[in-house]
Amino acid sequence: DLAALQGVERGSLKLAILTTVQYTVPKLLGRFCSAHPGIEVSMQVGNREMLLHRLAHNLDDLTIMGQPPEQLALVSEVFAENPLVLLAPPGHPLVGQRAIDPQRLQDQPFVLREPGSGTRLTSEKFFAQQGIRIKNRLEVGSNEAIKQTVAGGLGLAVLSAHAVAAELALGELVQLDVQGFPLMRHWHLVYPLGKRLSPAALAFKAWLGQAASAMAEAPLQKI
Ligand code: PGA
Repeated sequence: DLAALQGVERGSLKLAILTTVQYTVPKLLGRFCSAHPGIEVSMQVGNREMLLHRLAHNLDDLTIMGQPPEQLALVSEVFAENPLVLLAPPGHPLVGQRAIDPQRLQDQPFVLREPGSGTRLTSEKFFAQQGIRIKNRLEVGSNEAIKQTVAGGLGLAVLSAHAVAAELALGELVQLDVQGFPLMRHWHLVYPLGKRLSPAALAFKAWLGQAASAMAEAPLQKI
């Protein structure tokens, strides 16, 4: 009815998103805002630690993150895949090889995300399962900086395909065809259990489900 509709068309929406999500959701947000011009959106972008703090204090309407923590009572819904790819600088000896055996990564220098990063946890789990020891060349708490260090030849890295679409397209980074990759993680929409979502938050939640299919089309490069 009209009142409910007006409820959706006005109001504010406070989002908190993980830095790794900044490559996808903000780009799609324009469509949500033009469909709902009366909703004022504010968006915090931070690392996992900051999002957990904000969730624990109920500071946002909705949070977008990787794996939700078990220690908080939350509602969480998967809305998209987050494939992690293995990246090398152009000219690396493994570039262009097909179905590379993961064992060949043994002792390769890697640039890793910080401990606590979902990307880091997932790649470490993979290497441990394969019994591979990689060389931790450098630890960097930012996808952006990692891209630069890899392009500059410091080592290999595992990053979200969403974070490197532009660099892959430009040829600044190359995706290696290693067996077992991409490693699959998921994006979750999260809010505190029992929280009553505003009409604006409900509208965003419904929109995100549809926008997720657009995200799925973007990332993986054919190699
Ligand atoms: P990040 O990635 O924590 O490495 O930024 C998100 C995730 O997949 O959890």
